[in-house]
Amino acid sequence: MSKTYILAIDQGTTSSRAMLYNARLQVVGRGQFEFKQYFPANGYVEHDPEEIWQTTLQACRQALTDANVQAHDVAGIGITNQRETSVVWDLKTGKPIHRAIVWQDRRTAEQCRQLQQANHEPWVQKRTGLLLDPYFSATKVAWMLDHVKGARARAEAGELAFGTIDCFLLWRLTKGQVHATDATNASRTQLMNLSSRQWDSELCELFAVPMAMLPSIEDNAHHFGVADSSWLGADIPITAMIGDQQGALVGQACLEPGHIKSTYGTGCFALVNTGQEQVHSEHRLLTTLGYQLNGQPTYALEGSIFMAGAIVQWLRDKLGIIQTAAETERLAEGVPCDQSELLIPAFTGLGAPYWDPDARAAIFGMTRDTGKKQLAAAALRSVALQTRDLLQAMVEDGQTIETVKVDGGMTDNGWFMQALADITGYTVLRADTAEITARGTAFLAGLEVGLFKQLHDLQQLCRTKGTFSAEITSNERDKLYQRWLAAVAKVR
Ligand code: G3P
Repeated sequence: MSKTYILAIDQGTTSSRAMLYNARLQVVGRGQFEFKQYFPANGYVEHDPEEIWQTTLQACRQALTDANVQAHDVAGIGITNQRETSVVWDLKTGKPIHRAIVWQDRRTAEQCRQLQQANHEPWVQKRTGLLLDPYFSATKVAWMLDHVKGARARAEAGELAFGTIDCFLLWRLTKGQVHATDATNASRTQLMNLSSRQWDSELCELFAVPMAMLPSIEDNAHHFGVADSSWLGADIPITAMIGDQQGALVGQACLEPGHIKSTYGTGCFALVNTGQEQVHSEHRLLTTLGYQLNGQPTYALEGSIFMAGAIVQWLRDKLGIIQTAAETERLAEGVPCDQSELLIPAFTGLGAPYWDPDARAAIFGMTRDTGKKQLAAAALRSVALQTRDLLQAMVEDGQTIETVKVDGGMTDNGWFMQALADITGYTVLRADTAEITARGTAFLAGLEVGLFKQLHDLQQLCRTKGTFSAEITSNERDKLYQRWLAAVAKVR
């Protein structure tokens, strides 16, 4: 076989990455470009879709150059992406009508509150698995239609398209030939019915999103279309698309009910595979699609928190107390778990299980001794404490947790890994590569073109790089967690 490479695009919240994989699922080339974050008002977070497109294209070209591989040797492209972030564009010109509204954006909090007050949350949750929160796409799309002059009428006339980032990139790569998304990304818009995995007209009516602007919904491994040869030098089929957290679920080979993974990127997202069953949470977790292959859904229960790596970024970019994220490991060394400082990272509100868009961040318990070291430790511990919130909610929803597979940039930090084991009390298994999301996506793209045979072959390809177990007593763990809960209550 001549075409033996897979190009995986991982379009994330702060950077666009591309990884080239060989047929043994090893990375042979990579490219990465950061892009600008726009914060035009309190709680607003935007991206420029043109920058997303350009950085993605550059990353793909760099990955090919890095590996010294020609585009005609690539069998397929897989796209994985930051989910929920919404783009609306003109179908004729291809131009977005507004900057993308990012998943972290809180501008539609009031609309969500109104829908809650009108008692819509129970049926929306039943139908979509999601709660009423600005996190999801539906209210973001409606906001654009209501704030860009003439947009609503144009959307109703079928002149505008809506898409999450996977869909927008597909449309660009195919030069406007294909307007499609995959079932996992669609499940995060709050417009998809989780049982039928199709757009739901009643949800579209509730959120005032015209169905004419919605893409078709496909399986995760599927022949989506062909990337035009003018972009990378040869026509390449796009054979997989999947939301990044679901990509990581696959990449960690969490393929059986009860398997759980937690990914530490900009935010932290813990997903447990629940098989064919849609587990409806009693503890404000989300029911979501894990993946869909050959029309068959595998569901998951998800806990989403908005700030993980982004807290370390804040220490670096806003406080300036570190130059690189890696420095936090050395700084936090020796700061005891009963440190008085507690950081509540509600910079963009609180996600699961609190879902409080108005909460804001705070640091409690500072003394004259509080300095860089204590802040770094409190920041890392806050991510572990948030993870405990999620895992506890999963257990209360009837899940049994034995071990937790972890991945993402923050898992390089050994101090954080130990804190995670200490604070959650579970055995933490660190993946052999931080780029699990891209690996899962590449596997699906390879599955579709026959480079890989069956999904379960992934199990052999997954390895861990370190196992971490608790080194503090359950008494110490519970004391710290009680202080955390009391401090969270103060910011709400
Ligand atoms: O739901 C948002 C999530 O998909 C963003 O992921 O990796 O950019 O933190 P990440």
